[in-house]
Amino acid sequence: MKAYQITSPTGLDALQLVDLPQPEPGPGEILVRIRACSINYRDLAMPRGGYPRNDKMPLIPLSDGAGDVVAVGSGVTEFVEGDKVAGCFFQDWEDGMPTEKQFRTALGGGVDGVLAEYVIFAERGAVKIPAGYSYEQAASLPCAAVTAWHALTKAETRPGQTVLILGTGGVSLFALQIAKAFGARVIATSSSDAKLERVRELGADETINYVKTPDWDEAARELTGGVGVDNVIEVGGAGTLGKSFAATRMGGTISLIGVLTGRAENPSPAHVLRNLQRMQGIYVGNRRMFRELIRCIELNGINPLIDEIFPFEDARGAYEYIVQGRHMGKIVISV
Ligand SMILES: NC(=O)c1ccc[n+]([C@@H]2O[C@H](COP(=O)([O-])OP(=O)(O)OC[C@H]3O[C@@H](n4cnc5c(N)ncnc54)[C@H](OP(=O)(O)O)[C@@H]3O)[C@@H](O)[C@H]2O)c1
Repeated sequence: MKAYQITSPTGLDALQLVDLPQPEPGPGEILVRIRACSINYRDLAMPRGGYPRNDKMPLIPLSDGAGDVVAVGSGVTEFVEGDKVAGCFFQDWEDGMPTEKQFRTALGGGVDGVLAEYVIFAERGAVKIPAGYSYEQAASLPCAAVTAWHALTKAETRPGQTVLILGTGGVSLFALQIAKAFGARVIATSSSDAKLERVRELGADETINYVKTPDWDEAARELTGGVGVDNVIEVGGAGTLGKSFAATRMGGTISLIGVLTGRAENPSPAHVLRNLQRMQGIYVGNRRMFRELIRCIELNGINPLIDEIFPFEDARGAYEYIVQGRHMGKIVISV
């Protein structure tokens, strides 16, 4: 079978198309013919090096893939040949609080990922895709959408609350769509007015251009009558964290998800303690969350925003495209 492999983290050139033996499912495993993958910001770290808990080399990259079950191992009861499935980001985190060992089962991180024609998933590490979804749509979900679901449900987002999403990347757009399904009000930020117009079409109630309005935290507070937002989907990291604190209401939640602007600085924690706020770390999510998300998607007719689909032969093009940062929504590779 054809697969991409990274043998050493030397940059995007490390991504090599190779021939590998087709894997066979063992007990409790399923063999999936992958039809589509999606790429996430974290996937840039594998060819470049520096992803936490990534000690596997050579590595088949990418966590997000969907396809058809073509064989099942002994003892498998949940799936049969022909089922359309997506892999869970963590192959061994079904529910509850994970262990460090379970965190090492991230596809395309601690274990081989999905940028291949055939992939083995644990039975407990796969879900049936939403009814009516294409492979491309299903492949958009495992990392970004589950992360957004985890952040919003852990913050107990309720109708009438205000959620602030930063930028228009994969996680933020799913957070927008899910928050709207929960009956929340969404304030969206972006560096681009054109992207803000599109997020309004997707349901955002209020928008702020964070380049034209560098004090976007104050703007967000003003939009809540000076009170502050209930939950921030904090994907920016060091460069945005201080303003996310300031935009949040007394007792509100900051969901710590990403480090797009870096990890280095330390904004003062004093604001958090003085305002009784809660910071919650989010690292994708478990299989139960993925299944809950799928029920919400089916009930509310949520469809991922897909920016571009690359052919398997040009997987590197997908990596280069995400580096450019011009995308809005998911970047998919058809296999
Ligand atoms: N903890 C987890 O489990 C988890 C899961 C998934 C992702 N992540 C992390 O979350 C971050 C986002 O991931 P993603 O896949 O959504 O990325 P993405 O699709 O590549 O999104 C990037 C977008 O972020 C926005 N952005 C960049 N700098 C910004 C800033 N200073 N302020 C506000 N927005 C800014 C930009 O939006 P505009 O173009 O609209 O300005 C950009 O398009 C990454 O750091 C990723 O590693 C973490």
